[in-house]
Amino acid sequence: MSTSSSRKGQPTVLLCIGMAGSGKTTFMQRLNAHLHSKKRPPYVINLDPAVLKLPFTPNIDIRDTVNYKEVMKQYNLGPNGGILTSLNLFTTKFDQVLDFVNKRAPTLDHIIVDTPGQIEIFTWSASGAIITDALAATYPSVVAYIIDTPRTTSPATFMSNMLYACSILYKTKLPFILVFNKTDVVSHEFAVQWMTDFEAFQLALQKDTSYMSNLMNSMCMVLEEFYNNLKVVGVSAVTGEGIDEFFVAVDEAVKEYEEIY
Ligand code: GTP
Repeated sequence: MSTSSSRKGQPTVLLCIGMAGSGKTTFMQRLNAHLHSKKRPPYVINLDPAVLKLPFTPNIDIRDTVNYKEVMKQYNLGPNGGILTSLNLFTTKFDQVLDFVNKRAPTLDHIIVDTPGQIEIFTWSASGAIITDALAATYPSVVAYIIDTPRTTSPATFMSNMLYACSILYKTKLPFILVFNKTDVVSHEFAVQWMTDFEAFQLALQKDTSYMSNLMNSMCMVLEEFYNNLKVVGVSAVTGEGIDEFFVAVDEAVKEYEEIY
């Protein structure tokens, strides 16, 4: 049975981070539906000011506070600058968001957070760090890094995605779950094999004619330590396959969090 809510009755924060199109929003929808039907309804926060339509109703929505299009016009910004400035403006009010969350916390097991599609806007901005630190200082927090599995089957793309994930792990310093999404299209078994069997990855590299393969070879050894500290699950946000395993990984990650904090 799940224990992810057991830390002094505190809910667990699940920060969903991933590249554009990896399926964060669909995964959020799946988590929301799963928790509604099998556990306690989660508290849902949307931090993506540019999303047009959400398939779930967030408790807190950045779009209620800042109008991303107006921000672009007012500050004469492009789309990325608009998203970043909207996030900055929202962050100045994040203490109020925390007040809302704190009030609801005793009735919650999970707080799920959707982040902007332009991943670096959240992971490399001061606002992203402030929001992450503020949540993680109060609640057990876990990063769910969503990967588009069908688009990660080449060794080069796989390696760059892993390096990106590694950089986010170092930035957030939070327990980390690699969520290989869209397993209804492609199974994530190849990824698990590449992460656990160095020779299998080398073999895949040999088939890759890219001039980077020597570098990737060395990177692969460097990443071994990263892989050892990870939890890996395959899910389909569309069919719901793997979601139970995801929550088992969340429970393990929360135990890690408790050891760190
Ligand atoms: P951004 O908002 O651009 O960052 O995208 P996102 O990461 O929130 O991805 P989104 O949930 O919008 O999904 C992108 C596309 O992938 C959509 O067409 C989804 O239907 C599709 N998708 C998401 N999850 C799955 C999945 O598990 N299986 C399949 N087959 N498609 C999926």
